[in-house]
Amino acid sequence: MDLMEYQAKELFAKHGVPVLPGETVADATAAGTVAEKIGKPVVVKAQVKTGGRGKAGGVKLAETPAEAVEKAEGILGLDIKGHVVHKVLVTEASDIDKEYYVSFLLDRANRTYLAMASVEGGMEIEELAVERPEALARVAVDAIRGVDADKAAEIVATAGFPADVAAEVASVLVKLWEVFVEEEATLVEVNPLVRTPDGRIVALDGKVTLDGNAEFRHKEVFAAFADVVAADDLEGRAKAKDLNYVKLDGQVGIIGNGAGLVMSTLDVVAYAGEKHGGVKPANFLDIGGGASAQVMADGLEIILSDKDVRSVFVNVFGGITSCDEVANGIVQALGMLGDTATKPLVVRLDGNNVDEGHRILTEAAHPLVTVVDTMDGAADKAAELAGSN
Ligand SMILES: Nc1ncnc2c1ncn2[C@@H]1O[C@H](COP(=O)(O)OP(=O)(O)O)[C@@H](O)[C@H]1O
Ligand SMILES: [Mg+2]
Repeated sequence: MDLMEYQAKELFAKHGVPVLPGETVADATAAGTVAEKIGKPVVVKAQVKTGGRGKAGGVKLAETPAEAVEKAEGILGLDIKGHVVHKVLVTEASDIDKEYYVSFLLDRANRTYLAMASVEGGMEIEELAVERPEALARVAVDAIRGVDADKAAEIVATAGFPADVAAEVASVLVKLWEVFVEEEATLVEVNPLVRTPDGRIVALDGKVTLDGNAEFRHKEVFAAFADVVAADDLEGRAKAKDLNYVKLDGQVGIIGNGAGLVMSTLDVVAYAGEKHGGVKPANFLDIGGGASAQVMADGLEIILSDKDVRSVFVNVFGGITSCDEVANGIVQALGMLGDTATKPLVVRLDGNNVDEGHRILTEAAHPLVTVVDTMDGAADKAAELAGSN
């Protein structure tokens, strides 16, 4: 389960990681009250489960309580990468001398844990990781030994933290590792971890993913942090319909059956997209085995209401649910959606009863549907349509 920043920071505080005081509110007037209580300039921060809030206008400084109300009004209701802002964190504004980056995560490829750290943290960390990967230290962490003072010192030295903050950053790393282990997280990330002009080290942002498989050991934490207000964002709506949906940043909507097929569909679309102006997959959506018309309609409805989507690629391999059933599902789903379906669909069917599936789609001759026989060809067509639309 991904946590919001304020929830991540509650766990940080519980384990002694330095954070600044603040409160989360759902309306702008209350933001003013919190700012009043804090009695200093504050930062109003969108609480959504996606990064890049700063760049999207979701993090604003307010010098006065009145300004905090105004900033909260601007941020509440904002759509940040498909996540609607329902809550803002109003927290003390910090003076910043330097922004660092630290994280612990699961390194699946190397079957171990990994610490990452950089003295060049902040909003450009993604670019840094691509353009100058050497500026982002990576240190393997043994699961048994974990991060003790020595290991923390090694991480700090590898990342090149200056001597005057090395000890303090190392001590924060030990506490963050405690968060990682005791809360059973698969990701703990702080960006930025800052040095203030008076030399303190503070976590200004926090991203934590808790391991869903460990929920039974952390029932209270999961219950307290469960998302109750996500109903009008895409992921919340998909979840309410039991769909396996993850929103991504691209323009080609993806529907497939089976997680493996959907994952490889994302790859071929990203690859094909390079030829069409860099379009990318807009989502992961696995409709699973029994692709009924209703499930297809639910899936299409979610994908088509993503305003970034410009074309949809339906990639289905007929197995127990045969291609003719899927084809009927698509035709009926488009019937159910009526005028709300407005974006082109590229359909690729293969497997059990594929000829009958093709016949059904040909006969329906829906103006939005293009049938392409191969996965690569269909990915290319969908990317082309998204690039030109
Ligand atoms: N409490 C704060 N005081 C001062 N600046 C802040 C504070 N919180 C965030 N910022 C600034 O805003 C930037 C973006 O905020 P952050 O919480 O990292 O959101 P995101 O990573 O989603 O963009 C930070 O890199 C930092 O420069
Ligand atoms: Mg951040």
